[in-house]
Amino acid sequence: MPRDLRLRYPGHPQRSLVRLTPGGLARLGAFVHATTGAGQVVLIADRRVDALHGAAARRSLRGAAIAHTTLRVPPGERSKSAAMLARCWDACAAAALGRDGAIVALGGGVVGDLAGFAAATWLRGVPWVGVPTTLLAQVDSAVGGKTAIDLAAGKNLAGAFHQPVGVLVDSTLLATLPARHRRAGLAEVVKIAFACDAALFAWCERHADALAAGDPAVLARAVERAVRLKARVVQADERERPDGPRTALNLGHTTAHALERVLGYRGLLHGEAVALGLRVAADLSVRAAGLAPEQRIRLEALLDHLGLPVRLPPVRVEALLAAMAHDKKRASGRVRWVLTPHGGAATVPRVLESALVRSALRGAGAR
Ligand SMILES: NC(=O)c1ccc[n+]([C@@H]2O[C@H](COP(=O)([O-])OP(=O)(O)OC[C@H]3O[C@@H](n4cnc5c(N)ncnc54)[C@H](O)[C@@H]3O)[C@@H](O)[C@H]2O)c1
Ligand SMILES: [Zn+2]
Repeated sequence: MPRDLRLRYPGHPQRSLVRLTPGGLARLGAFVHATTGAGQVVLIADRRVDALHGAAARRSLRGAAIAHTTLRVPPGERSKSAAMLARCWDACAAAALGRDGAIVALGGGVVGDLAGFAAATWLRGVPWVGVPTTLLAQVDSAVGGKTAIDLAAGKNLAGAFHQPVGVLVDSTLLATLPARHRRAGLAEVVKIAFACDAALFAWCERHADALAAGDPAVLARAVERAVRLKARVVQADERERPDGPRTALNLGHTTAHALERVLGYRGLLHGEAVALGLRVAADLSVRAAGLAPEQRIRLEALLDHLGLPVRLPPVRVEALLAAMAHDKKRASGRVRWVLTPHGGAATVPRVLESALVRSALRGAGAR
């Protein structure tokens, strides 16, 4: 049975319908029709995902009498580029996509961010529907309306808030996802649980084996719980105010973003960097926010159990600090950290003593 979440955002009329529907890709056409009313769409698809699931998507669009063209995007972060964005616009131009049309994104976070930004900018904004196909995209990036591309100067530097009118979350698509990407997505589930929902955290501990093995029913349940949480948080704080509840979702991300930057976005997947960032945040939470040491041990044990990385690669502490200072999430030039005094109760970000940060990074494996 599909489950629908209807999201609304204070201050503007935009609504998003998030449909949790195992097997629902076969009904994509009806969903696009119901959410956008479009008679025509440009489907922007990750090339690998398109080879696996594109035919089913197109069959369903055809069944709903929706005209469509497909732009296939090479897999990988490098597709979140200005050049690829221009190719999306060209595809919309070639299809003569009007304001009564829509863009559909089929893929992981890369394609979602790219196609969402194309939708935000084509004709100054057309509706878009997300069909997230990675665990990370289903539990995190597809909901919330952040869209962006990367520039040479940094990740996600050009972008827009542009809420999708619809998000079709079909957890059966995860069956073809490589295990390493599944584990990376689980890191974001652990993040949102440890930041916002102690009960979900305990549930993850109880189901760690099934999650690690990719049990479809358990994954579907994890997706649903994480999506519900994320939906609640982003409706309360769509634009991520400096002290708003959405900042909690950055738990672990100060370290993760710095690490990814220092490594040149190679070697570690985003979720793997987040797992390491969560370990650092938990250490800092014990030392500076009163987190009980047993709770940190539970977090570490869960991340271990899920097969996520344990130690930072031997990067230099000073390089990480420099990368943090570069990150756009800064308050008057100072790096701010999300901490958790209790599992499930992340605080608003705050500035920490740099000696403390250095010591935590060193403790986690940096040099
Ligand atoms: N907008 C947001 O709020 C937000 C939040 C978190 C992350 N992000 C962004 O998301 C991106 C990372 O997304 P990602 O982890 O989904 O990576 P991704 O989109 O690169 O996908 C990972 C890999 O999995 C493959 N793949 C995807 N679905 C598949 C499937 N069902 N079966 C087989 N293979 C499949 C892809 O071809 C790709 O190689 C980053 O650019 C990050 O900045 C955005
Ligand atoms: Zn993340």
